[in-house]
Amino acid sequence: MVEVREAPERHESTGARPSAIVVRGMSKAYGKVQALDDVSLDVAAGTIHGLLGPNGAGKTTLVRILTTLLPPDSGRAWVAGFDVAREATQLRSRIGLAGQSAAVDEYLTGRENLELVGRLYHLNRSTAERRAAELLERFDLTEAADRRSKTYSGGMRRRLDLAASLVADPEVLLLDEPTTGLDPRARRELWAVIRQLVSDGTTVMLTTQYLEEADELADRITVVDLGRVIAEGTAQELKQRTHGDVLSVVVEDSAQADAALGVVARHGSGDARIDADGVTVTMPVAGGAAKLAAIIRDLDSGGVAISDIGVRRPSLDDVFLALTGHTAGADRED
Ligand SMILES: Nc1ncnc2c1ncn2[C@@H]1O[C@H](COP(=O)(O)OP(=O)(O)O)[C@@H](O)[C@H]1O
Ligand SMILES: [Mg+2]
Repeated sequence: MVEVREAPERHESTGARPSAIVVRGMSKAYGKVQALDDVSLDVAAGTIHGLLGPNGAGKTTLVRILTTLLPPDSGRAWVAGFDVAREATQLRSRIGLAGQSAAVDEYLTGRENLELVGRLYHLNRSTAERRAAELLERFDLTEAADRRSKTYSGGMRRRLDLAASLVADPEVLLLDEPTTGLDPRARRELWAVIRQLVSDGTTVMLTTQYLEEADELADRITVVDLGRVIAEGTAQELKQRTHGDVLSVVVEDSAQADAALGVVARHGSGDARIDADGVTVTMPVAGGAAKLAAIIRDLDSGGVAISDIGVRRPSLDDVFLALTGHTAGADRED
């Protein structure tokens, strides 16, 4: 039995910002695969929320439920104040969805794509044309507007896809891995566009596999793994759960990895481990840089030859390892 707490008011007059997305006890299975397992989260209106997790975590499943494309098995959710199951029709005109699998018809021009979406939303012809022109301008696609989108770069297609999701001026925008597969420059350009949207008042929930992306964009992050919420907080809060920095030592010969592990472990409080490559020893550390000199000395006197040593900010893998005990890249076991 799922307990439903604090169903949101559609119009909230006082107090903190109203929630644009509320999810309570959401579960969904595909046969034996439990894609979502009792997921709850809140996204404040006017913010960017990151749903961070590796492949197979259940991100797309949640996005599909929140955009009314998939019914949940149990649990409830409200988006822009509307129940995703019971008020799907009213909800659809208030949300936008964009993501990896671009909903762009590549045989149409950019302009034609946007005008078509406008007509699907029942805008009249002149309104659809005006809206398309505005969005082309805003996403820096005016020059390419009358070329078939087939000829667009990956970054341009993502911008067009995002523009298409905005035709009906949604209150809440769901972006499913919007930058996966883009080069760093195109990714940064898209980040700027997303930031701009939120500063104009749109609420965004974005799924990503990249801690860096969540870090750059999200006000708050929900970390999911194997269908469950394993952590929630700001990027800063999540990174602190890995005890600050990560120290890594690369040995020249994998036969000395265990010896290096022993030395490193003596200098830390966290868990030292040998990476899958067999030559890299990593350990979460606080004040890592100060420990470097002592560790180098001990490795040297222990006769351990190293090819690299350094301290870096935690990666998604480190955060995952700290939270789950396994790396983000590990395949789920079904
Ligand atoms: N249509 C489907 N039929 C069967 N299993 C599915 C289907 N869609 C997703 N899954 C499984 O559900 C889990 C969650 O998938 P998904 O929501 O796509 O995760 P993510 O978007 O985080 O990669 C995965 O194990 C995936 O293989
Ligand atoms: Mg996905």
